[in-house]
Order: sequence, then structure tokens, then C-alpha cells
Amino acid sequence: MDIPINLHRMTGELDQLATFSETKPPGVTRIIFTPGDLRAREFLKGKFREAGLDVREDAVGNTFARWHGAEPDLPAIGTGSHADAIPNSGRFDGTVGVLGGLEAIRALQRAGYRPRKPIELLLFTSEEPTRFGLGCLGSRLLAGVLAPEHAAMLCDSGGSTLEEVRSAAGFYGQLDEVKLPQAYYEAFIELHIEQGPTLEREGTALGIVTDIAAPASMRIIIEGEGGHAGAVLMPQRKDALTAAAELILSVETAAMSTGVIDTVATTGICEVFPGAVNSVPSRVKLELDVRDVEGQRRNVVLGLIQQASETIAKKRGVSVRSELLNADPPASCAPFIIEALVQSCAEQACTQKQMISRAYHDSLFMARIAPVGMLFIPCRGGVSHRPDEYASPENIADGTRVLAQTLARLAA
Ligand code: GLV
Ligand code: MN
Ligand code: MN
Repeated sequence: MDIPINLHRMTGELDQLATFSETKPPGVTRIIFTPGDLRAREFLKGKFREAGLDVREDAVGNTFARWHGAEPDLPAIGTGSHADAIPNSGRFDGTVGVLGGLEAIRALQRAGYRPRKPIELLLFTSEEPTRFGLGCLGSRLLAGVLAPEHAAMLCDSGGSTLEEVRSAAGFYGQLDEVKLPQAYYEAFIELHIEQGPTLEREGTALGIVTDIAAPASMRIIIEGEGGHAGAVLMPQRKDALTAAAELILSVETAAMSTGVIDTVATTGICEVFPGAVNSVPSRVKLELDVRDVEGQRRNVVLGLIQQASETIAKKRGVSVRSELLNADPPASCAPFIIEALVQSCAEQACTQKQMISRAYHDSLFMARIAPVGMLFIPCRGGVSHRPDEYASPENIADGTRVLAQTLARLAA
């Protein structure tokens, strides 16, 4: 099928979306329910409506834009991704799946295609963990893997709860109504940049995901004893930051100890209190992220980090409190969707390779309630979560065409 992608329009929309940001270009920062996020949502909903889609939002701001099929009561074929962006990141993570999904639908409309089953575009709320410490908030609630009462009480760094923040943003419904019924989607496909170097390095047009790695994250609070940087002598110190430094190194050692390239661990947050050059740090908050394609092996690493924190606490006379924020199992993509993507790549003359997603995505949770598939677009140098993140218009067009072809095949 000839699928006429309007690349000029789509890249213009990607550029426009990138302007809803709290950092200067090329960096993008769009934290959930901030003014930038709310403006981006208005922009996107306007685009969805312009395409004739029926738009609805749930209580946490997940936004659904439906193209009713000839048999509108059938389970839908879903596609979509997120539009929030971590501090100082790029313009393609998530957004390519939202605007690519929209352009896939518009291209099918232009081609004169009429779906039998509904096709639905989904904009997820808070795929990134920046504000509430937990990634994939929207999709966790959609899949029913996060208790609504727990979600409501999640706190941001200013002490506001999700409940307060969402209602201030105009989302008032009941969180326990967010969960979708099991047969809501017959299939869900997410288009996303690879966020790794494989496709570009091998010169392959597209990646078809077979499995999504298992992420976990942990918050660790270290309490020592503060004091005057001149007066407290070294043997008497209970410096929370030097204990944290040792712990950060042990996180790295724990990940390397598996001897497997698929195990990764990152300490991405280190907050020091009181944060004065002439004051011994009395408290440190660390947040770390551990992942593996095998959940079991990832759990062994979490155990090693726990042991190391107890040893360091004893040795340095500090207290260490750790809280496991999430430890999610990996997910597999549905063989029939992988097959449909392979066929669409062949029909659209795009080379493809089957691969693992090392990043997590909302599809990790959608897999609990629907068969899922993911399609990856190469990104320059494998760079992501950085301002210089880049995907070429040609690669985006290939991904969008193959997505459209697959939606058309599955919705027929
Ligand atoms: C998603 O943004 C991830 O951290 O994998
Ligand atoms: Mn991301
Ligand atoms: Mn993403």
C-alpha cells in the first residue's frame, strides 16, 4: 500500500512541540503537569482533533484519540507514547511515537483507508520518573499494576501529592477508573527512538523489539553527623557524603559483578544536605536505577547493593535507609505483532532487525493487558536523554510508514 507521509508537516510539529520546554533549545525539559507539559497537551489535543479523532482524557491525564472503525465496538488497535521529557533531554524521546502515531493515522486517511476496528492513539502521562520518582505512572494505572491509593499519595520534591498536582492541572476524575479492561486493545504498538547505537552502527532502518528489559529503582537515605568543616576532626566524622561515595562505587561494582553486558546500574541522583562548602554533610539522598533483561539477575544486584549499604553503615557509623521504589519484571512482545511488523517492513522496503529494548517504555506495562509490539527508529550515535538526541527525518518517515502499514493490517 502506498502510504503518503507528510514529513514536512510532522517534523514541523516535532519542532513546535520542542518549544514547550523549561530549558533553552536544543535541550528540552517537560515535567509532568508543569505549564510546559500542559501547553504541550493542548497543542497535541488540537492536532488530534484536527485529524477528526475523538479525544478523551482519564483522571491522570492519559489522553486517547480514537479513529472509530466501521465496527466501533471491536477492541481497538492502539499506538502511542509519551511527551514528557526529563531535565535537559532531547526532542525525540516519546514524541516520535505520539506525532508518528498521529501522522500514521493521517497518512492512512489520505490513502483512503477505512479501518474496520477502531485505531486509537494514546498519549501516556509521566513515562519519566522525574516528578514523582516512579516511571510509567499513566501506563501502570492503565494496566492496574499500581494501586490508585498509592499513586494518589506519591509526592514530588516540593511535598505536593499526585492527587493535589493532578487536580490543580484540571484532572479531577477517580484514579480507580483509569484501569482499562483486559480486551480494550487487541494490539498495542509503540514507535520510539532506539536510544542505543545498534541500528545506526549496522545501517539497519528499523528495530523490531522482542523483549523489554526489567527496570528497578531504589532510594537510599544516608544520615551521618553534620558539623563545622574546620572544627570536626577527621577521626570523629560521620560524613554522609563520603559514605554515599563508597556506596555509589559499590553500585557500579555490583552491576559489573554479573559479568554480563546486559546488567546496568546508575546512581542518577545525589542530594547533599545542608550543601555548604564549610559544613560536613549530614544527610544524602541517592536514587539509583538497576536494569537487566533477566529479572532474577537484576534482583541479585539489588541484593548486593543492600548488603553493601549495611556494611558501609556499620563501618562509617552512619545510618542507611533504603526503599525499593519499583522492581518490575521484563515483558515480551507478542509474536503476531512482531510478525506483522516484519511483513510491513518488507512491504515498505525497510531493512529491520529484531532486538531487545534496554530502555523501559509504557509498553512494558501495556503488555500486562494487551499484546504489544515496539518499533525502533535509529538515533544518532545512540544518544538519548541529552539535548543532542537526534533522529533523521528519513528514519522517522520509515518508522511512521511501517507503523501505519501495521496499524492498517491489524485494524482491517
Ligand atoms: C525511560 O525513559 C528509561 O529510562 O528507560
Ligand atoms: Mn526517556
Ligand atoms: Mn521514552
